[in-house]
Amino acid sequence: MSTPFDDFRAHHKGIAAELEAMEQTVEALTPRNMKSKAGDLGHIVHFLLDDLTPHAQAEEGVLYPPAEGLIKQHGKAIAPLELEHRTLEALISQFHDLAESLPIGDAETLHSLQQVAHHISFLVRLHIEKEEKLVLPLLEEHLSPAEQQGIMHRMHGHG
Ligand SMILES: [Fe+2]
Ligand SMILES: [Fe+2]
Repeated sequence: MSTPFDDFRAHHKGIAAELEAMEQTVEALTPRNMKSKAGDLGHIVHFLLDDLTPHAQAEEGVLYPPAEGLIKQHGKAIAPLELEHRTLEALISQFHDLAESLPIGDAETLHSLQQVAHHISFLVRLHIEKEEKLVLPLLEEHLSPAEQQGIMHRMHGHG
């Protein structure tokens, strides 16, 4: 079924392709070839500043305001954090597999392991920032100390 948001999803696909190309370009840089790759780097900066940044600004200005009310009415505000936990589980599974195959692996396996480690680190830092800036302050402001204490007690029971 087509919807008016098909173009929006297509733009996201284009962004994903640009990000993939960016990673490959940056990873292929060496101190010797850097000068000859100036054009490629210029293309990436152009994408980041003139495509990705306005995309995010348009989302904040136009897409998020109507979504905010709908999430409160029909959605689940905490769902994005749960989704990040699922992504984290997938990354941990990838890291586990790569770590086990590393002793007989090659340079490519090692490189993948390093990349997954970076992704895990970035995701968890951002995730923690969201929990500490968006979730904990709400609980601290609106729950009694006894209720907060009860949550911490149950958290510890689960590791
Ligand atoms: Fe987007
Ligand atoms: Fe979490």
